[in-house]
Amino acid sequence: MKNSPVSHPSRTGIDWPRAQAFLARERTHYAARNPQSASLAAQAQQHLLFGVPLHWMNDWCTPFALHVAHASGAGVTDVDGHNLVDFCLGDTGAMFGHAPAPVAAALVHQATRGYTTMLATADAAAVGQSLSERFCLPFWQFAMSATDANRYIVRWIRAATGRKKLLVFNGCYHGTIEDVFVDLVNGQPVQRSSLLGQVHDLTEHTMVVEFNDLPALEAALQQGDVACVLAEPVMTNIGMVLPEPGFWSAAQALIRHHGALLVMDETHTISTGPGGYARAHGIEADALVLGKPVGGGVPCAVYGMSASLAQCAMQAKQDAPPGHSGIGTTLTGNMLAMAAMRAALTEVMTPSAYAHMLTQAQALASGLHSILQKHRLPWCVTQVGARTEFQFCATPPRNGSEADRVLDGELEHLIHLGLLNRGILITPFHNMMLVCPQTTPAHVAQLLDALDAVLSEITVLSPSA
Ligand SMILES: Cc1ncc(COP(=O)(O)O)c(C=O)c1O
Repeated sequence: MKNSPVSHPSRTGIDWPRAQAFLARERTHYAARNPQSASLAAQAQQHLLFGVPLHWMNDWCTPFALHVAHASGAGVTDVDGHNLVDFCLGDTGAMFGHAPAPVAAALVHQATRGYTTMLATADAAAVGQSLSERFCLPFWQFAMSATDANRYIVRWIRAATGRKKLLVFNGCYHGTIEDVFVDLVNGQPVQRSSLLGQVHDLTEHTMVVEFNDLPALEAALQQGDVACVLAEPVMTNIGMVLPEPGFWSAAQALIRHHGALLVMDETHTISTGPGGYARAHGIEADALVLGKPVGGGVPCAVYGMSASLAQCAMQAKQDAPPGHSGIGTTLTGNMLAMAAMRAALTEVMTPSAYAHMLTQAQALASGLHSILQKHRLPWCVTQVGARTEFQFCATPPRNGSEADRVLDGELEHLIHLGLLNRGILITPFHNMMLVCPQTTPAHVAQLLDALDAVLSEITVLSPSA
């Protein structure tokens, strides 16, 4: 979370002393309405590092961790009995709703038939076929998380091409695959200083350029040693950054010309449509990664590759001495995960589910425009299918540096807490909202009303004041 001074451009139109008074009231209100969560948080503090299962669960806006009782469809019920409308959706893990019925049925069916044998079930071939039809790539492998899928595809490509360098865009996030944590600071590649326990020099094999910067991409590729470009087709993890018209077709031509490969990480941009952003926009990647929602939220991920890459990858394995490949984990491709993926791919991630989601997201985006206009806030709204975001700048950022400059953790948190206290959950990082097949027009209206109420409390020019 980045904090900003009062004069930060993100705060144009915000009455900061008023906003801080609002935050104090909201924190008190949160504590009063969540006694069970408070009690569980205090208990967890005794034996969990930082009091939570994963340290960054403390990055939410709440004074202490909100504890969940159950989650279903577009809703989360917390342990104090509040029904929250969920627009975070596990930051995409539950993009098709919590506990989607076909995935739940597949898990129940598998539950008494074993979980892990290190052997294939009948689901394997069916999932492979479904993936290749959906994404137009013929060969697939599995992983436990999108992080691992990224790690493994990069290794396969390095092995297959004999090239060592990875090229990424400034401000990217592809999970905790170490190689990508290199930022551009004053035009220079610098290893991200927040990394814990990282002892290798990541700048040695990772190059970084700004998104939408074709000359910089070309200059980096010209050195002839880049194995692959690993990218989201739209950056989503530093706030959203859309590709400029023509960027990807030109970038793809450059990547091909210089003998590198293109890996599209569609983990978030699968929000675009059934075949992801790349397929919808004619980007022909050599490899594709998808995690999070591919098993309906059950831990698993997939990566696919073109026929020519697959051939080189198999050759590399054949040529390598026997022994550990450094790719794969024991539970990868386990029976539960394969059953979950088969159900999610064939019965949940359907064109009709997307049609509903895109309609709701469109309604959300236009409602957000109206509210921002009403409160005279110079903020923009960006949308990639079911994923919508407002950013603290008048025009969408064009690259990671621009997007980073307008992040404002304090302002985000007080908005998020105001929304949570009004029954709405949005992603703790920046201002991203996802809709799922169970999101209704009433849910969207509830979010817009809650945001309107919060902004009325913190803006300088509140029309309702
Ligand atoms: C684009 C992208 N790729 C990969 C990942 C890693 O996913 P996971 O944390 O499930 O490994 C993320 C996580 O946010 C992501 O946004």
